Amino acid sequence: MHNQTTPSSTGLPALEVTAMTSGYGALMVLRNIHLSIASGSVVAILGKNGMGKTTLLKSILGFLPKQSGQVLLNGQDITTMAAYRVARQSVSYTPQEQALFADLTIKDNLRLGLSRDSLLADRLAGVYEIFPFLKERLEQLAGTLSGGEQKMLLIARALLGRPKLMLIDEITEGLQPSVIQRVANALSTERQRHGTSMLIVEQNVEFALQVADHYIVLKRGEVVLTGRTREAGALGAIEAELTM
Ligand SMILES: Nc1ncnc2c1ncn2[C@@H]1O[C@H](COP(=O)(O)OP(=O)(O)OP(=O)(O)O)[C@@H](O)[C@H]1O
Ligand SMILES: [Mg+2]
Repeated sequence: MHNQTTPSSTGLPALEVTAMTSGYGALMVLRNIHLSIASGSVVAILGKNGMGKTTLLKSILGFLPKQSGQVLLNGQDITTMAAYRVARQSVSYTPQEQALFADLTIKDNLRLGLSRDSLLADRLAGVYEIFPFLKERLEQLAGTLSGGEQKMLLIARALLGRPKLMLIDEITEGLQPSVIQRVANALSTERQRHGTSMLIVEQNVEFALQVADHYIVLKRGEVVLTGRTREAGALGAIEAELTM
């Protein structure tokens, strides 16, 4: 590690996006996006299908080139940094589309979250506390897990790398309420233990309000509403915006 200074001691935001415009080739999807994640805090991006939420994460991470704007990660300019290099800056990405290797065991999928195999045993102990079912099933093929279990494995893999910033795309999609609650608890526990900052994309407003400190509603690629999740009336304001 080159930088031993923790984000909280520098006071810099974990992530800062300024006037970002981005899309696919000539198709502009995101317009003039501003957002900031204070170190150790959680921001939720809300919005209906096709509003640009996944495009936002992919643009931040460098999978898509930005047409304009700036992205700072803990003060470092990553606007034009390649995605594989961003991933090395203690940033984890849990994509919306299936991202497990179905033909590999749970253990081998988990290994992919680590830069060194020697860390596995130690880090796994912390993950078992959050998702105990993984312990007995390490040699099982990931493709044989249920949809909900696969989502939990994805989060477990991200946690193993001890990211400073987690980007998570619609983790609750298709999950039953009890599993959604487990995932919410897992993220809260991780945050308490390690001060992890998070950007979560969600359509489950209740989950987002439970897990996040701030919310941002995206509509057709633009920020149309922002606020604190603890504020009275947040749920009503968001729901009104989403049904408009
Ligand atoms: N690879 C692509 N090429 C061209 N257009 C794309 C591509 N991916 C997404 N889009 C378009 O960009 C817009 C935003 O898509 P995006 O996937 O960011 O939405 P989303 O908010 O994540 O939706 P969902 O909640 O359904 O996942 C949509 O109009 C979509 O059709
Ligand atoms: Mg999406």
